[in-house]
Amino acid sequence: MCGIVGAVALRNITPILIEGLRRLEYRGYDSAGVAVLDDGNGIKRTRAMGKVAELEQALESNTANGHLGIAHTRWATHGKPSERNAHPHLSERLAVVHNGIIENHHSLRTRLQSQGYEFTSDTDTEVVAHLLAHHYSHKPDMLSALRSTLEELRGAYALGVIHQDEPSTLYCARMGSPLVIGEGSEEHFIASDPLALLQVTDQFIYLEEGDHARLTLNSCEIWNSQNRSMTYPVQRYAHAAHSLDKGEYRHFMLKEIYEQPRAVTDTLAGLLGEDRVLTAVLGPDAESRLKDVRNIHIVACGTSYHAGLVARYWLEEQTGLPCQVEVASEYRYRSVSVPEGTLLITLSQSGETADTLAALRYAKKQGYLGTLAICNVAGSSLVREADWRLLTHAGPEIGVASTKAFTTQLVALLWLTTALAQERDRAPDMIAANIRALRGLPKLIEQVLELDGVIENLAYSFANKHHALFLGRGTHYPIAMEGALKLKEISYIHAEAYAAGELKHGPLALVDEDMPVVSVAPSDSLLEKLKSNLQEVRARGGQLINFACERADLDNGDGITHIKLPWVYESISPIVYTIPLQLLSYHVALVKGTDVDKPRNLAKSVTVE
Ligand code: AGP
Repeated sequence: MCGIVGAVALRNITPILIEGLRRLEYRGYDSAGVAVLDDGNGIKRTRAMGKVAELEQALESNTANGHLGIAHTRWATHGKPSERNAHPHLSERLAVVHNGIIENHHSLRTRLQSQGYEFTSDTDTEVVAHLLAHHYSHKPDMLSALRSTLEELRGAYALGVIHQDEPSTLYCARMGSPLVIGEGSEEHFIASDPLALLQVTDQFIYLEEGDHARLTLNSCEIWNSQNRSMTYPVQRYAHAAHSLDKGEYRHFMLKEIYEQPRAVTDTLAGLLGEDRVLTAVLGPDAESRLKDVRNIHIVACGTSYHAGLVARYWLEEQTGLPCQVEVASEYRYRSVSVPEGTLLITLSQSGETADTLAALRYAKKQGYLGTLAICNVAGSSLVREADWRLLTHAGPEIGVASTKAFTTQLVALLWLTTALAQERDRAPDMIAANIRALRGLPKLIEQVLELDGVIENLAYSFANKHHALFLGRGTHYPIAMEGALKLKEISYIHAEAYAAGELKHGPLALVDEDMPVVSVAPSDSLLEKLKSNLQEVRARGGQLINFACERADLDNGDGITHIKLPWVYESISPIVYTIPLQLLSYHVALVKGTDVDKPRNLAKSVTVE
């Protein structure tokens, strides 16, 4: 998704902007550009299709050195990927970068064209550039021009703006798209993600919705949408900069898969007592709040949605609380019925997913008991806007395919289930067993990671396949869904997941020797049922790949491959069985030669609707 970096500093800022863009590459983009107020030469803009490396090459023949500038990686929404549509966009003596979507761009464009402004791109962003120029021609300064412009914009935006007439001032604004201010010594920066600036600062101010700001070397002035001056704390970014390196790994995705034992340990830090879960992390009145919950709604997108689906099984079985789970893009546009005492849980790695954020804002008007964000990014919009927060400590996740963020979400959700069960005086044995299982989870994940070599060999059998089916039952049905999503996302093989009991209601018709069927087969109460479903597959010549418990005692024979996993306690089993599916999709993608960390057409953080 689009990325923004901007800087005002005493040193030459071009290398800072380029490094910032490189750090945002993981989010997915199709073109990049930079505009620098070049000493004595006005605003110099350079844009390029493709990677940031291409932009760097273009900069060799159009060198720009200066102390004020903005840069952007674009993920096309309005207008196809091309150099002319890449940001920054110019109008008269100013330049703009923009994330988000200006919904009323059409009417604004028509009006600006009738006023004589010429458009050179198909983007909604160019409207902002001309609108700023138009207002600047009638106003005393850029701040007033920016305010008049913001009043006219509908939709979502994070903006970075520079003007030749104010050579030491960087302007920015946010509404519906994330933007942070980075503080240095006699320098200020902006970025859509703090990760972009970790090479220059770890001190950040998080703008609120509707804010705009004026930054110079030594000052940072922020106003809200009513132009009231605002002061926010400067927060230290907790993750170490070195965690953004691939280290010894070939891809971020593989590194992040291997980081899972550590990520789980960090997520659980301070949450588990001897035989009770410690709920203080949810605030001083956590116990009474948890007791008040009568009902649960979970809303999320993609992989995070799958985590919610697993949690529904846990919550209903272990706490007796009714739970419903929904994708945010649907939830936000329908009339929801909210029984008294319902807790709304939003799940997100980034905390900036547009649909999930919109769902939270919608939910806040629906009479929920409260809203809880389970999220991996402490300063994200979702975390700041929810009533309660529970942070997963996976650390920055760079690969577009979510791995450690998913397993840590599951850890947080099982912890929450246990906390709710505890406050309802449910079976102490079950609570103690969950705690023991969570404690032992990092070791188990390490054990399962040792299957990497076996799974790598298995991946070659997918090389010529175009489709795959994933089967599971109970809590492992959403894990099958997650396995299918991972495979299609990074290897571009069409994959579908089914609750195994549904096979004979349709998908069985697809099964033949060209259709690999992957099953998730732990030794649980549904194993015998699953075995019958797998026989249905074998009887139709389907190639079976079973990720199965070593105690499962599944049929052997031609066309059947078993990958054996250690026996695990039922609650944590979906977390453990996720690991081999992540490794499978990773190795299949390697065999297929796709861009593992940045799959085509996808973005890490989907900040537009
Ligand atoms: C997962 O591999 C995907 N990249 C995607 O489905 C992702 O989980 C989804 O976009 C939601 O993102 P979030 O967790 O940051 O809200």
